[in-house]
Amino acid sequence: MHIFPFRPNYRELFVGLENLVPQGKGGSAPAVNFDNAATTPPFYKVMQEINQFAPIYSSIHRGTGYKSVLSSQVYERARKTVLNFVGGLSDYNTVIFVKNTTEAINKLAYRLWNPRKKEVILTTWMEHHSNLLPWRDKFQVDYVELDEQGSLNLEDLERKLQRHQGAVKLVTVSGASNVTGIMNPIHRIAEMAHRYQAKILVDAAQLAPHAAIEMRPISSPEHIDFLAFSAHKMYAPFGIGVLIGPRQVFEQGSPEHSGGGTVRLVTQDRVIWDDPPYKEEAGTPNILGVVALVAAIETLSGIGMKTVFKQEEHLLQYAQRKLEKMVDVELYASLTTSPRIGVIPFNIVGIHHERVAQLLSREGGIAVRNGCFCAQPYVQKLLRIPDKDMGKFMDNPLLPRPGMVRISFGLYNTCEEVDQLLTLLQEITVSERNKTKFLSSSGKLGYTSKTLSYYNNN
Ligand code: ALA
Repeated sequence: MHIFPFRPNYRELFVGLENLVPQGKGGSAPAVNFDNAATTPPFYKVMQEINQFAPIYSSIHRGTGYKSVLSSQVYERARKTVLNFVGGLSDYNTVIFVKNTTEAINKLAYRLWNPRKKEVILTTWMEHHSNLLPWRDKFQVDYVELDEQGSLNLEDLERKLQRHQGAVKLVTVSGASNVTGIMNPIHRIAEMAHRYQAKILVDAAQLAPHAAIEMRPISSPEHIDFLAFSAHKMYAPFGIGVLIGPRQVFEQGSPEHSGGGTVRLVTQDRVIWDDPPYKEEAGTPNILGVVALVAAIETLSGIGMKTVFKQEEHLLQYAQRKLEKMVDVELYASLTTSPRIGVIPFNIVGIHHERVAQLLSREGGIAVRNGCFCAQPYVQKLLRIPDKDMGKFMDNPLLPRPGMVRISFGLYNTCEEVDQLLTLLQEITVSERNKTKFLSSSGKLGYTSKTLSYYNNN
């Protein structure tokens, strides 16, 4: 068992960390997961709460049975828990339960959309596709540029807010990047947006699991108007996410999805929509997702988000400082510019990112993500690929794609796991350079028949 030197208890909070996966050199070892920016393993507490709740699981807002009433109360109470977690105000904000951040942003795009005129949305070149694509077909979208380090250029933000002369409806920005881990100064951006009569959405998919968030009172010019995040990135699977925003914004208009649970009255040809958040939650609500989310929030809050951030910052610095010393490693984010969550994008010079990621998994049971991380424009900019050069990838889908390898930490990762990764990266670099194919340290060919049959059968 790998134990982090000064906080040994965190690993015990998680399900599945000791699960064995086959290793190329033979035998098996605990899987190392450095792909937390995509999805995290569950907290034990989440699974316990799900099991405890299961016997009373019943319909939400649709029954007078005892279990149904209880389930509905659990569901409604959760909105308060979510708001407390991010410093939102229950008399002003509404909490809408959705599937994930992607659905939350699509929902907001639909809510703010005025089909009669193309209004301006200001997003940034740092965003993942979920904070780019939902805006493109409904709005005139402008993009805040990046600086040389891949951070947001706040002067460009101000220039663009000025240029649009009060016509920007929303500035939408990630709280932390899923590619570089860069944390944006969301309150400074909020102040700028408000100065130009725009509102702000913070896509907190990568921020909420790793750092404290404060939406702040609306009397503060630095308050956050809209916030979205997903539970599957914060140790609570079961398909739930949230969109938080001023209740009044969701009072007007018909919902994006209509159906059961969204209405007060339906006649043969008319409908009176219910109040938010109900009109925005069509169909039977995901109570198990909500139970999981609450358990995760309680666990994270019990540890304290500042402690969570410090723990992961330690891992980030430990790993990045060591990677910086490896001559063949090219890093795409630095420790010296913006604060970052525990995400490190890199390449090994001369070895395709996909090959590196596959070898890490097959030889060492180390899970990373490679490619463009659903943030192709950002990765293109970090790799300094001119837009005109992207045409060939559009024309020929079989061309090896540009991209990177990404490691992303969760609360449970350890420096020992980082060392395992670094050792294997060294071995991969040497063996690929020498064109010997990957040889495991025992001298046998890395892909043993046992390993291959595991991959073929699973
Ligand atoms: N946005 C998620 C990731 O970065 C899917 O992997």
